[in-house]
Amino acid sequence: MFITFEGPEGSGKSTQIPTLAEFLRAQGRRVLTTREPGGTEIGEQIRAVIHDLKNTAMHPHTETLLYQAARAQIVEQIIRPHLIAGGIVLCDRYADSTIAYQGYGHQQKLDDVRLLVRYATEGLKPDLTLLLDIDVETGLARKQGEEWNRLDAYAVDFHRRVRAGYRQMAREEPQRWVIIDASQPPEFVATAIRECVTGRV
Ligand SMILES: Nc1ncnc2c1ncn2[C@@H]1O[C@H](COP(=O)(O)OP(=O)(O)OP(=O)(O)O)[C@@H](O)[C@H]1O
Ligand SMILES: [Mg+2]
Repeated sequence: MFITFEGPEGSGKSTQIPTLAEFLRAQGRRVLTTREPGGTEIGEQIRAVIHDLKNTAMHPHTETLLYQAARAQIVEQIIRPHLIAGGIVLCDRYADSTIAYQGYGHQQKLDDVRLLVRYATEGLKPDLTLLLDIDVETGLARKQGEEWNRLDAYAVDFHRRVRAGYRQMAREEPQRWVIIDASQPPEFVATAIRECVTGRV
């Protein structure tokens, strides 16, 4: 089973993944957690280029392609082999982040972006995607004083389009997406995630 965590900046994805992983491992399941971009030696090098605050000149097309390069590597090297071996993969962001950020956020043609994503993943789609939904200001405020990357620094309007894009995707594919209210305290969010996953694994 392939489960992805999506949502705007500061919605709690990286906070919740270890909690869910621990819960599933306690049931004897083989769980792998990864993060995007990165998660492989090559991918982490690409991540550094994407996130570097110095790279203000990066064109949206360059950004989109770099994400797909990192993704192609993690899909073939890590994710697909673990799924074939029967494990559960929990991924901190995946293909839908590209549709949300590079598609809706940068307002690039969605069909073009979808084609690139399909190429990078060879069509590997999550079985379940948890949208940790939170309003943009609250999410960004949570990240003050933490690691701040080039994408966090985009204008608030960019982040609003990202959130709206996520919600649109969830509406279009309700069998795959579950929207979690990420404005609640972490324990409540963890319980909501656990209930949702338990019903599906
Ligand atoms: N439910 C919550 N309530 C309040 N604060 C939270 C909650 N969940 C996480 N936080 C805090 O908000 C900050 C951002 O959380 P986290 O890094 O998990 O978000 P994220 O979704 O992974 O963000 P990003 O998209 O930037 O990777 C952290 O300081 C974390 O401790
Ligand atoms: Mg995170």
